[in-house]
Amino acid sequence: MRPLGTFSGGHRGHFFVIFLALLLSWPILKLRTSSRSRPANYATIVDKCRSLRLPVGPPPTFHDRPQSDRFVAGTYPTLIQNATIWTGEHNGTQVLLGDILLDKGMILDVGEIRPDILQRYGNELEVLNAQGRWVSPGIVDLHSHMGDDPSPALSGSSDGNSLNGIAQPWLRSIDGINTHDDSYLLSVSGGLTTALILPGSANAIGGQAYVVKLRKTAERSTSAMILEPPHQIDSSSSSEAFVRWRHIKHACGENPSRVYGGTRMDTFWAFRQSYDKAAQLKKQQDDFCLKVENGQFDDLGEFPDDLQWEALVDVLRGRVKVNTHCYEAVDLDAFVRLTNEFKFPVAAFHHAHETYLVPEVLKRTYGGPPVSALFSGFSRYKRESYRFSEYAGKILTENGLKVAMKSDHPAINSRYLLYEAQQAYYHGMPENVAIASVTCTPAEAMGMGHRIGYVKKGWDADLVIWDSHPMALGTTPIQVFIDGIAQLESPAVAEKPEKLQHAPKIPNLDEEAREALKYDGLPPLLPRASSDHVIFKNVKDVFVRSSSGPGVKKVFSAPQLDSENGLRTVVVRNGIPVYIGLYETCHTFLNDSEPTIVDLKGGSISPALVFYGSPLGLQHISMESSTTDGLVSDPLRSDAPSILGNGTLVRAVDGLLYGSRDALMAYRAGVTTSITAPEHGSLFFFGLGTCFSTGAMHKLEPGALPQAVTALHTVVTSNTVASVSTQIAALRRLLLHELDNFDNSALRDAVEEVTAGRIPLVVEVGSADAIATLISLKKETESIHGNPIRLTIAGAAESHLLARELAEANVGVVVGPIHPFPDTWETRRILPGPPLTKDTTITKLVDHGVTVGISTAGFSINAPPGNWNAQNLRLYAAWASLDSDGKISEEQAIAMASTNLEILLGVSGRAEDADLVATEGGGLLDPSSRVVSILSPRSRKVDLL
Ligand SMILES: *[C@@H]1O[C@H](CO)[C@@H](O)[C@H](O)[C@H]1NC(C)=O
Ligand SMILES: *[C@@H]1O[C@H](CO)[C@@H](O)[C@H](O)[C@H]1NC(C)=O
Ligand SMILES: *[C@@H]1O[C@H](CO)[C@@H](O)[C@H](O)[C@H]1NC(C)=O
Ligand SMILES: *[C@@H]1O[C@H](CO)[C@@H](O)[C@H](O)[C@H]1NC(C)=O
Repeated sequence: MRPLGTFSGGHRGHFFVIFLALLLSWPILKLRTSSRSRPANYATIVDKCRSLRLPVGPPPTFHDRPQSDRFVAGTYPTLIQNATIWTGEHNGTQVLLGDILLDKGMILDVGEIRPDILQRYGNELEVLNAQGRWVSPGIVDLHSHMGDDPSPALSGSSDGNSLNGIAQPWLRSIDGINTHDDSYLLSVSGGLTTALILPGSANAIGGQAYVVKLRKTAERSTSAMILEPPHQIDSSSSSEAFVRWRHIKHACGENPSRVYGGTRMDTFWAFRQSYDKAAQLKKQQDDFCLKVENGQFDDLGEFPDDLQWEALVDVLRGRVKVNTHCYEAVDLDAFVRLTNEFKFPVAAFHHAHETYLVPEVLKRTYGGPPVSALFSGFSRYKRESYRFSEYAGKILTENGLKVAMKSDHPAINSRYLLYEAQQAYYHGMPENVAIASVTCTPAEAMGMGHRIGYVKKGWDADLVIWDSHPMALGTTPIQVFIDGIAQLESPAVAEKPEKLQHAPKIPNLDEEAREALKYDGLPPLLPRASSDHVIFKNVKDVFVRSSSGPGVKKVFSAPQLDSENGLRTVVVRNGIPVYIGLYETCHTFLNDSEPTIVDLKGGSISPALVFYGSPLGLQHISMESSTTDGLVSDPLRSDAPSILGNGTLVRAVDGLLYGSRDALMAYRAGVTTSITAPEHGSLFFFGLGTCFSTGAMHKLEPGALPQAVTALHTVVTSNTVASVSTQIAALRRLLLHELDNFDNSALRDAVEEVTAGRIPLVVEVGSADAIATLISLKKETESIHGNPIRLTIAGAAESHLLARELAEANVGVVVGPIHPFPDTWETRRILPGPPLTKDTTITKLVDHGVTVGISTAGFSINAPPGNWNAQNLRLYAAWASLDSDGKISEEQAIAMASTNLEILLGVSGRAEDADLVATEGGGLLDPSSRVVSILSPRSRKVDLL
């Protein structure tokens, strides 16, 4: 039997009537065949056996409810007027212009609401005019560890995974869902209203999962957050004629193998052994109940049950939504085989990086194909995720398969789960399917589609009013309702350009999707050709690096995109733009050759972007040490081998690994250089950074290494063995004291460069306390050496607290990620930005005159390597500008992702030598454009992508 998700079909109603009739006639049938005397506990036994046959899911009468079971007495009824409403109906294509009435914790009406209904409320109605803005259902996350892995993370606080056994269906995530996770409000402020809290993936069977709503409850308990608690934890529902859905987590592949020292063979044996046990128990139960039915009470014994295995028996009875962490084709295939051997359906495969490669395998799943719960880009961190494709959502949809975008919070910050859906849309998933992928699709997959995931009469009053179109980058809630209760107190709303009320236009990406399939997820990434001379036609904007000092300026902009007249032609010789003007007169600049002609269709030419923030160029697959440079050694531990002397000074350039997919994809997205520090994990270290070309194939290629050595890098964090004060002591000794008798000559030379102000000292640091100490240390150093030194703070989650002091001390900041998150205690005091605060970390720093660079990655001090995210730098630059309420222009945003980073990180060089990027169909910061060419004066050519 397929899992029942909704009760919309008349067919199903029918089915239930028949089912109920059977159920009610059951004791009568039994009476007829009964010949012996009943046992004393007969009533209990009959009840138990009957309960095994109860159907799962909401009763057909669910929508007759006069109020939501989650209604909070005293909640004011609310009328949202004049909204553009994405309802989720008609396969996610229905959009209504109208009003929404919220009362009793529910959506009482949508669309054109009859005046007499509103009159009943008199003055007792909160009215909110949405001014035509978009309203969607609350965002639903099919995969979260919120509460079980709360933020900030503390050593005793992770309850995500038990390490006590490979198959433990008896464990329950609810027992660890902490109510004080800082994420609840942060994620609500991004529109998230409901999440399925899964145990982690260290075990084949990690335990049972629970659906929570994210709002604060009066009771302040975990129990009060659970949506439709099943009768195993809520006895009040045990008298109902329908049982509520349960949820369970399974995992295959590397994680259980790694944790339990086994192999995929061991993991699947653990599954088969567990399910065999459950199947035997189920048979004993069914036999028992058959005997009761036939009145055979001799030797009946007790009802066979087992608290450890009952959840799996329920899986076999089709009452549990199975959520399986499963990446690769080999694992998907094995798990689908398991479902057919034991006959149970699967709600979703999670991560599911290779489901797009094996749609036919998914279709063989017992009970129908599961949803693929995907990341939009998080990949290549382990073998299982290496063949990930951004086009997976598009390909799966074209195969008629369902997709949910999920966060795995805190792996991905679920505050931005809608951005995951936007990315899927930017990579070819249809708009209706993309919005559904974080609303109705996950709601249905968790068995809650009858009450959440839609803006529909009778559904829970969980919805979001957005400041722009849900698929517009940077869209931000202006209010979020959960159970009819507004969640944001005095929300800060940024002004957004009118064009963001529409979804960006996305080019046809069929060819890209075909290539992903043709090459099993590893399509070639090298440019298809290069050319010395290129004529770019129909150019709308031209940005260049400013020749006097840092910054980026727009040197040309056509008045409007639609007028062909306004568009210009740019001629490039040997990788260098030599002419902007009319097409008719451009040829004189290329009278010696046959130029390549590229039509940018209203696109732009802009400075190429620069990445910094994770070990890009030092790793192919970060969790596979054989594919990386490896970790530096920590000079504060005595583990450095004597051949290195008393600690050497590592140079990132010596470990560079060219041609990683992350680097090449960054190149194809206009990020043509990376400034990379040595890979240090969470160790204390000193090392020299490097600046390399992300598009080169080896170090000796022309232009492959714009600057071998950049700045001196280090880290100050409480997340390592030596104390923060010890780390500062090491820095203090180096910066302030005579180094004549210091026997690490390489480090001594580098420090002398720093104290002379010739290269920057770059410190990865989050805590404002440590940043303040570094500001003081800078002043002391300068007073001793008598000259200014260059200090850059990177990561810098709490830097907004010291914006003025940083500006006064002339300390620059690289904010990474651009949306700080309180992963750890030392990064907990974040400035969250709209709608929680008007300012962002970036606007606060810029307001005070701090030089700011940005990163998409979170540095190793508080996040897993973000090499995969380097390619999204242009979107993050756009986002930083969109969050800023007009304070940060497009030029400034591009500078923060290019020239500012170079200054802050010690890269020098002539503006004329730097790469440029040509985009088709829009500007560099526009999600609807694509990068088509890289102009490289250094290697005297244009790469055609
Ligand atoms: C839903 O929409 C998608 C994309 O527009 C389409 O591919 C699919 O066939 C539609 N499904 C139904 C049942 O209409
Ligand atoms: C509804 O919103 C649109 C768009 O902002 C606006 O033009 C119109 O005047 C609004 N109508 C009402 C009744 O508020
Ligand atoms: C192209 O022709 C112009 C005159 O029409 C001349 O000034 C210029 O030097 C020529 N360029 C090359 C590269 O031959
Ligand atoms: C390391 O430093 C100590 C103390 O400064 C010195 O005695 C020792 O010889 C040094 N070892 C090496 C290998 O340079």
